Amino acid sequence: MSVITDKLGRPLKDLRISVIDRCNFRCTYCMPKEIFGKDFVFMPREQLLSFEEIERIAKIYVGLGVRKIRLTGGEPLLRRDLPNLIKKLTEIDGLEDIGLTTNGSLLGHMAERLKEAGLQRVNVSLDALDEELFQSINDSGVKPERVLKGIGKAKEAGLEVKVNMVVKKGMNDKEIIPMAAYFKEQGIALRYIEFMDVGQSNGWDFSKVITKKQIFEELRQHFDLEPVEPAYLGEVAQRYRYRGTSAEVGFITSVSESFCSTCTRARIAADGKMYTCLFAEKGIDFREMLRSGMCDEEIKDEVVHIWNHRADRYSDERTEESAKNRSKIEMSYIGG
Ligand code: GTP
Ligand code: 5AD
Ligand code: SF4
Ligand code: SF4
Repeated sequence: MSVITDKLGRPLKDLRISVIDRCNFRCTYCMPKEIFGKDFVFMPREQLLSFEEIERIAKIYVGLGVRKIRLTGGEPLLRRDLPNLIKKLTEIDGLEDIGLTTNGSLLGHMAERLKEAGLQRVNVSLDALDEELFQSINDSGVKPERVLKGIGKAKEAGLEVKVNMVVKKGMNDKEIIPMAAYFKEQGIALRYIEFMDVGQSNGWDFSKVITKKQIFEELRQHFDLEPVEPAYLGEVAQRYRYRGTSAEVGFITSVSESFCSTCTRARIAADGKMYTCLFAEKGIDFREMLRSGMCDEEIKDEVVHIWNHRADRYSDERTEESAKNRSKIEMSYIGG
């Protein structure tokens, strides 16, 4: 099978599929209540890709070289019967890895079923262990304990778990060390994510970013870390090991050390629009293609054409100006 590459020579290897644009959290940096309030209009059900449509699209992408699929949201566990979709995806020949990115609040109920459906791993977002602080960030009353229980259930069910913590200055800097200590003890990889300028509503500016370098300096005062070789070219997180243990910690440095040159990811939003970058302004409507009777070969040709013309490298080129003025899509819509 031939590998398709974009204008910068990057192959198409990963597909991130958002299965729903809703979330039961209102994280202040992602879905602030002032914007995502009671009157906010989410996608009606008929606009979401059906599981059959997602499966069809996934097969087409795997046919073009995709080896890894990650399901995202909003909150993907709000999508009814998600394990049924996972089961279907696991049956696709050639697909090597299926992951899920979740806020963990529903994982307690779902972990078993997800594992049975064939899911291998989950990345759980958790920005603080302190109860009051976590509740003020997610703005929906959920306590960290509930997410930690979800993580426990996921581990029990045999899922590999990683934890994502978005670090934002003035929001949760105080949690950097407590989170490291807690997840080191648990043997769960924690990844610190630099606060990014996604979407229009998260009030980003550079002064709110805490860089990997700053976090690393702080960690080094408490822990002895050694670098870990990337598992594959283009791995998003930079990984380290607590020396003498098997526990790892990582950094996702989209702002301070961008990784566009090895970006092999395509994204599909819940309404079937394809995006070639997290910071894209416009998507291409695959739902229309799927529903208008195009055959798989024709759709495949579209993907090839789009990928061949891809030149996105937003994080490499980011400026204060582009962060403010570009009309980017929301994180909850595209799924991170
Ligand atoms: P693994 O397969 O477990 O390594 O997952 P992942 O880190 O690729 O996915 P996850 O959904 O856990 O994402 C963690 C963070 O990385 C989120 O904040 C994503 O938005 C960010 N991220 C993932 N891919 C990209 C990317 O291509 N560009 C940028 N700028 N950020 C990304
Ligand atoms: N910057 C960095 N990460 C973010 N996420 C949501 N919004 C942002 C942002 N502005 C994270 C979520 C989740 C992952 C998919 O993206 O917390 O862990
Ligand atoms: Fe928070 Fe993730 Fe929901 Fe956004 S999608 S509000 S980051 S839990
Ligand atoms: Fe890929 Fe765009 Fe992220 Fe760069 S900014 S790594 S091109 S998704």
